[in-house]
Amino acid sequence: MPPGAKREGTDVPVSEITPKSLYLGRREILGGALLLASPIVTALAMKSWIVPRRAVHQSKPLPVPVVTAASTAPSTTGAPFATGFFTDEARTPLADVTSYNNFYEFGLGKEDPQEAARGFVTRPWTLSVDGLVARPRVFDVDQLLRRFPLEERVYRLRCVEGWSMVIPWNGFPLAALLAEVAPLSSARYVEFTTLHDPERMPGQRRDVLDWPYREGLRLDEAMHPLTLLALGLYGEVLPNQNGAPVRLVVPWKYGFKSAKSIVRIRLTDTEPPTAWSVAAPEEYGFYSNVNPDVSHPRWSQATERRIGEFGRRRTQRYNGYGEQVAQLYAGMDLVRNF
Ligand code: MTE
Repeated sequence: MPPGAKREGTDVPVSEITPKSLYLGRREILGGALLLASPIVTALAMKSWIVPRRAVHQSKPLPVPVVTAASTAPSTTGAPFATGFFTDEARTPLADVTSYNNFYEFGLGKEDPQEAARGFVTRPWTLSVDGLVARPRVFDVDQLLRRFPLEERVYRLRCVEGWSMVIPWNGFPLAALLAEVAPLSSARYVEFTTLHDPERMPGQRRDVLDWPYREGLRLDEAMHPLTLLALGLYGEVLPNQNGAPVRLVVPWKYGFKSAKSIVRIRLTDTEPPTAWSVAAPEEYGFYSNVNPDVSHPRWSQATERRIGEFGRRRTQRYNGYGEQVAQLYAGMDLVRNF
């Protein structure tokens, strides 16, 4: 699709998300187009588009209890679950959540990570929290699991490509972790870095992105109660393809802000460069708040396809979390700061 052209009513294939020069040679793209012209291949592609291929999911329950709204009696404990922590929209089945993934360290296809990350070893694993903090720390991931009570948070996830899911994450507010390291008054941003190990993450052997995958938030976004560090989903240990052992979840932003398999969190005084803003600065901004009114330069963001559903639904501003987060952006030009 030429730059500037907009498209609506379809998901955006990976070949268009990633700058093409990084993804495929032109000949391979043409070959793919010819292949897709065949009715049988088209029918198969349509089937996997509607119903992701089911993987045999290796179920592993979390070793610690998870506090859910149902397990909490509001009369005795107050109201620990604030508005926005839940949605009563139907949850995307676990089989779809674990078989339709974006995790470029394990391949570019949606169904690649479930296979390629199967043997990914996530222990031992440490998470460093440093930079502009009074008490830098290195946490072992099992220490994290026991130190911070895990909550269930049922959030919508809206990918920049135009599809969405509803996922019951198990995690704790990032703010709780940041409180332990005591941010300095000079800290304004938070950088998240994924593991860099091409031996264990085969996708990093290709120059698809400037590895390691990096993301960033403003400090007030990072401290917002909706911002979560997830160690599980559906009551299970976080599956490898979903970013084991620990990932970020920021539900009002496009899914790519939610970095997977994090090893470092660094507080800074300047806006950190991110993997996607380095790859295509005019396409992927630092803020990347879900916004149906601001199109991607090459496609519309007005609608989305909920995985498992036919048809498309309208995309909500801030992915439906405006009541909770809009004040973070008061007075900002959200077209310039996309
Ligand atoms: N984190 C890393 N390290 N590498 C990635 O490729 N993809 C992002 C995000 N986090 C990605 C990542 C994108 S584009 C999306 S939509 C979500 O992860 C998908 O999360 P899920 O596969 O658990 O649904």
